[in-house]
Amino acid sequence: MRVRSADDRRREIQENATRLGIDEAFISDLVERFYARVRAHPLLGLVFEQEIRDQWPSHLAKLKDFWSSVSMNTGRYSGKPFPAHMKLTGITPAHFNIWLALFRLTLEDLSDNPETVDYFMERANRIARSFQLGMFELGNGPGI
Ligand code: HEM
Repeated sequence: MRVRSADDRRREIQENATRLGIDEAFISDLVERFYARVRAHPLLGLVFEQEIRDQWPSHLAKLKDFWSSVSMNTGRYSGKPFPAHMKLTGITPAHFNIWLALFRLTLEDLSDNPETVDYFMERANRIARSFQLGMFELGNGPGI
């Protein structure tokens, strides 16, 4: 059996993303529309307004890099999302449930393909679970 190289793996991920209709324009729409929804939400909106304040342009740019890296393996994001969330106070599992529900609604608005919706939701769920593990179950988090 041939061992796949990192390049092969990257190419496969990118081909699969293309098949699912995912490109930079899709990511840009997703991030813009999702955060518009988040900001309009009474509970979640407040948390983001307090933290992001006048930094929305750079926050949105960073999140586009993040989702581009996560969904297409472009390597555009090199930040540390874990500590950014561990320092937040007053967050509950309800905040995460709302976050995930708004993310799904946005994806469903943007794509008719359930596979595309699942592709993002799988990744969002996994990351949300790891944040929640750190926030609610491990005390100080794994420190990464
Ligand atoms: C209750 C749910 C969530 C809340 C309230 C929340 C809130 C925030 C806030 C306030 C920031 C800005 C932190 C800062 O700039 O210091 C942030 C950054 C970020 N969030 Fe979330 N978030 C949530 C869930 C998620 C999830 C599920 C993901 C990924 C699937 C995510 C991905 C990110 C990323 C990539 C950043 C940028 C981190 C960096 O490099 O600075 N967030 N979030």
